[in-house]
This record gives sequence, C-alpha cells and structure tokens, in this order.
Amino acid sequence: MRKCVIFDLDGTLTRSEEGIWNSVKYAAEKLGFPEPDAQTLRRFIGPPLGYSFREYMGMDDAMAEKAVETYRERYNVVGLFENRVFPGIRRLLRTLKQEGWYIAVATGKPQRTSERVIAHFGLDRFFEKICGPEFGHHADKTELIRRALPDDWDAQADEVWMVGDRKFDVEGAIGVGVKSIGVGYGYGSEEELREAGCTAYCAAVQDVIDLLCPGAQPPQGAFLSIEGLDGSGKGTQLRLLTDVIDRFGFELQLSREPGGCAISEKLREIILDKNNAEMDDVTEALLYAASRAQHVRQVIRPAVAAGRVLLCDRFVDSSVAYQGGGRQLGVQRVLEINAPAVDGTMPMATIYLDVDHETSMARRAAATELDRLELAGDSFHARTEAGYRELIRQDPERFIVVDATRAPEEIGGEIAEKVIRRLMEAE
Ligand code: TMP
Repeated sequence: MRKCVIFDLDGTLTRSEEGIWNSVKYAAEKLGFPEPDAQTLRRFIGPPLGYSFREYMGMDDAMAEKAVETYRERYNVVGLFENRVFPGIRRLLRTLKQEGWYIAVATGKPQRTSERVIAHFGLDRFFEKICGPEFGHHADKTELIRRALPDDWDAQADEVWMVGDRKFDVEGAIGVGVKSIGVGYGYGSEEELREAGCTAYCAAVQDVIDLLCPGAQPPQGAFLSIEGLDGSGKGTQLRLLTDVIDRFGFELQLSREPGGCAISEKLREIILDKNNAEMDDVTEALLYAASRAQHVRQVIRPAVAAGRVLLCDRFVDSSVAYQGGGRQLGVQRVLEINAPAVDGTMPMATIYLDVDHETSMARRAAATELDRLELAGDSFHARTEAGYRELIRQDPERFIVVDATRAPEEIGGEIAEKVIRRLMEAE
C-alpha cells in the first residue's frame, strides 16, 4: 500500500507570523494608519488579506486593495523569508522520506510564494508537489489537497493523511475523504481541530513522527565545530549562527570544549586554573584529551544519533593548534594522544574565524582578565596560529575559513550561508 501525506504550510511546516506582521505594519504606516496592536496582528494569520484589512483595520474596499498591494511590496521581497521552520519538521520529513512516503504540500498561500519559501529553506527536495492558489485567487482546501495527491491515487488502495493546524485543513481532508492530523503547535487550538473532526490530534511534531512512522530510526544529525584564536569573536558568531540554524528548523545543541558535561567541566576548571602554573605541557594535553573522551561519548555522539545538530565551541583542532603548535608538543604527538578520545568522531564542518594572533590578543587584553592559556607569551600565540594554518592546509574541505576582521554581521552572514548549505547537503 502506498503511503501519502499532504502538509499545510503556514503554521504546520513553518511559523510565518514575523514576515506577515512586519508587512502589515509596513502597509499601515505607508497608508497613514496607526500601527496595529498585537491582537489585531494575530487575526491576520489565516484569512485572506483584503478581508483582514477591511474587518480588523476598518478600511473600505479601495483602501484594502491598496493595502494588499503595499503589503506585497514588502512581503514578496523580504517578508516571506522572515519565517521559521518548526523544530523537528526536518526530522519528520527525513523520516517520512526514509520510510518511503509520498509527501506533498497543499497551502492557501499563493503557489509561487510557497515554492520560494520552501526552496529557501531547502525543503523542496522532500515534496513531490507544492499546490497553492494563483496570486489573487482563493482556492478551496479540498481542491488543493486533491491536486497535491498523486495523479493516480486511490481512496481504497492508498493510506492518505492530511496534516494541518487549522479547521480548514481538517475540513478539506474530510471533503476529499482522507484521514487528518490536527497539529497543536501552529495557529489553531485543540478544540478547533477536534470540533472539525480530525482523525488524530498531535500536540508536537514528535507525536506526528510516532503516529506515522512508529519505531523508525531517527535520521543522523550533524556535528559542527567552531575554532579560532582567543579573541577571534567566537562568542558573537556562535550567537548569530544559533539563530540561523534554529530558523531553518535544524534542532541545535550547543556544547563546548574543554567541558560540555559534568566531568569535562571539572577538568576544564583544572586546566584553565591560573594557580596551576606548574602544569606540565603533556599533562595539559592529556587532560584536554580526557575531557574530550567523555564529551564525545556522553554528549556529541548521542546528539548526532538523535538527529540533532551539535555545534561545539572548539574540538580536537584546538589541541593540535594550542598544544601541538603553541606548546610545541608537535602535531603528530597531539593527534596520537587524542586518537582514543576522538575515536573517529570528527566534525562534518569546522568554522575557522581567521584573525592573526596580534589582533586577537589585542582584542582579548582589552576585553577581560586573561586565563592561564591566554597569559602565555606572544610567540605561543604565533605558533598556535601557525598550527591552525597547518591544519587548514591539510584538510581544506572540512574548514570554512572566514575573514573575522570584518563587522560581526558581515562575518555572520557568510558563516550562515556556508553552514546551512553544508547542513542541507548532508541531509
Ligand atoms: P575558550 O576560552 O574558547 O573556552 O577556550 C579555552 C582555552 O582552552 C583557550 O585558550 C583554548 C584552549 N584550548 C586548548 O589549548 N586546547 C584544547 O584542546 C581546547 C579545547 C582548548
């Protein structure tokens, strides 16, 4: 039996209010209306735009038409990308694909806009069809669901589900004669969905996975790391990247080295303690490796196996650069020390924030009190930088090297684009 699932878009796959609200506000301002309050804005999600401008903002027909035009001026350029894929949706789609489901979209959003949003988030490869109305037209959900189904679908022979967050989705499914799942994380309430007669109600994305693909193995997640000299701006870039990864619906888990779990955080305290001035370089390298061994097994591998994107602030490259280069233990020796700790677990991609050691130290000294490693001399940092350069030379495919001397937003933009591309390629 063929298994088919049709998804609604807004409120089911993506959370689109940010772009809608910003564009409503834009239209109101341009046409000289007061800024709509939060409650008014919320009512704009769902009904046709012209209707909302008339009903909720008291416009006459001519003005409402103008408002829709003005809204589109902004929405079609930036608004449609001010959107987020719900967490877990990528995992749901990957699991369905893995299990051989036919997947399509039936949405009230204009077809062209829907295709652009879906392509922007790299979700197009999951869908056999994307069905929405033509611009300026309203299409009945029943009709859209019918169009989204395989041309030769058969109500008797195929298992078919419609997944949506509003009663219109459930009513559409009933119109076609297929089963429906009402999802509770979107814009409709449980009461609305149950009243409309949904076959099943799922409060969370995970419940949809459990219902449609019981017992399925979660698809593999990904392991990413970020590296750079102290003061290269890792903190800021991690914050910016977190938001982008999240927006695309990848389930992000942040971690750091040394640290990331209780035992490794205790080791971190020992390693970075300024009072441990007598620590031997070999001891230091072994402690980093010990902390890594625990972190790999307790945090990194389980996160990737559960389908999450584990983004780690530093990994084994730091040991090679700092202990191998900076402390002059040698690249080979440090790799040997780390072999049982890493045990084949390496990042799929590593972001390297490229600033030279003079710039990075000047930034650090200006910012905070220095820890034990940062107190090491200038030549230490020069050798660490050289260590990183050697690693990048040896493994240019894995490293995403970005010029980190520019404005943070500019650096963040480049990292986001490159990291998202890699994550999508790995899906
Ligand atoms: P952080 O300040 O980025 O958290 O890193 C702590 C310090 O530890 C930093 O100076 C780099 C250093 N370090 C190593 O020397 N070797 C390693 O393996 C790791 C992970 C960090």
